[in-house]
Amino acid sequence: MSQLRYFIGLMSGTSADAIDAALVGFESDGTTHLVCTHTLELPADLKARIIAAQTRVNTTLRDICEQDVALSLLYAAAVKSLLEKANISASEIEAIGNHGQTLLHAPEADHAFTLQIGDNHRLAELSGITVVGDFRRRDIAAGGQGAPLVPAFHRTLVAQTETAAFLNVGGIANVSVIAPDRVSGFDTGPGNTLSDAWIRKHRQQAFDAGGAWARTGTVNEPLLERMLADPYFSRPAPKSTGQDYFNLTWLENLKVDELVPVDVQRTLVELTARSSSDALKASGCERVYLCGGGRHNNLLTQRIRSLVEPIEVTDTCALRVDADFMEAVAFAWLAKQRLDRVSGNVPTVTGAQSERVLGVIYPRAD
Ligand SMILES: Nc1ncnc2c1ncn2[C@@H]1O[C@H](COP(=O)(O)OP(=O)(O)OP(=O)(O)O)[C@@H](O)[C@H]1O
Ligand SMILES: [Mg+2]
Repeated sequence: MSQLRYFIGLMSGTSADAIDAALVGFESDGTTHLVCTHTLELPADLKARIIAAQTRVNTTLRDICEQDVALSLLYAAAVKSLLEKANISASEIEAIGNHGQTLLHAPEADHAFTLQIGDNHRLAELSGITVVGDFRRRDIAAGGQGAPLVPAFHRTLVAQTETAAFLNVGGIANVSVIAPDRVSGFDTGPGNTLSDAWIRKHRQQAFDAGGAWARTGTVNEPLLERMLADPYFSRPAPKSTGQDYFNLTWLENLKVDELVPVDVQRTLVELTARSSSDALKASGCERVYLCGGGRHNNLLTQRIRSLVEPIEVTDTCALRVDADFMEAVAFAWLAKQRLDRVSGNVPTVTGAQSERVLGVIYPRAD
């Protein structure tokens, strides 16, 4: 093994459930080694305030500024714990790739924008490590969606002798398709965000563990059809979306409050299964690698497996990347791309005019 270059990837996803931290070593030929991981759950009050900001409920500019700082303190704490766990010093890390916390993502707006908060200056000061952040906005400025950004990294994990797909089920679900001659990818729609919001409303739980509640309900077919009739699902790629579109208001506009709550929950699982498996089937892939928290929902995974049959479904652990940390590992890789001044986007995925070096460098203090 050649001398490894160490990077840390930090992901706090759209679900605002936790900060995922990954210590990653890269060989000079690009081989990736996931060395150590750490998860820091977001405090419930901060999570509630982030969700309020994402959905623009009772949020002031001051709240957002406070969240920006609160998040960076937690990012620094996650990095500290990760370094202790791995028994490695900050000076050995080239950079932290910090995704930040998405509050809004509106690539289709008149003035397309996306906003990730979590003060990177403060993170560089607190950690003593160079930080790379703000990855998405350059792609948007170049006419792209700013998302998904992981397909470029996924390409490095497979041989490209067959067509493989990655399905990440986070708050939003996204697919990457790595074919021998082409890389594509887009957000397929809601992953867990709607089912999380629905169970939070009806049972005061953060998510439906294992899909146990949904399993006791029945798919409401007319509701599923109304959901799938949303123009987002039939729009061609490039496309990406967020909680500011798929949220409780979107759901309530479908008159779900008149229905049995558990049947709505079951139908939401089916919505994610249907929309993602339609994309996988259309991709012509021979194999699917699952990642993201949604794959712990056994009902969802079962439905995806059955809808895409006979395509083989496994998870990214088969590629030696822990499937709960794929996004964090990808942002470590994106930080390396930035320091090496090579592109991080795939224009056929995001729709950007051409390849761009992504991210802003916040150097550590010498
Ligand atoms: N045991 C479980 N059973 C069912 N669902 C689970 C379980 N564990 C996690 N989840 C789901 O996974 C979600 C978190 O997944 P993840 O961290 O991949 O998403 P994210 O932070 O939103 O990232 P992304 O940026 O990819 O959207 C939780 O909100 C929950 O819905
Ligand atoms: Mg998460």
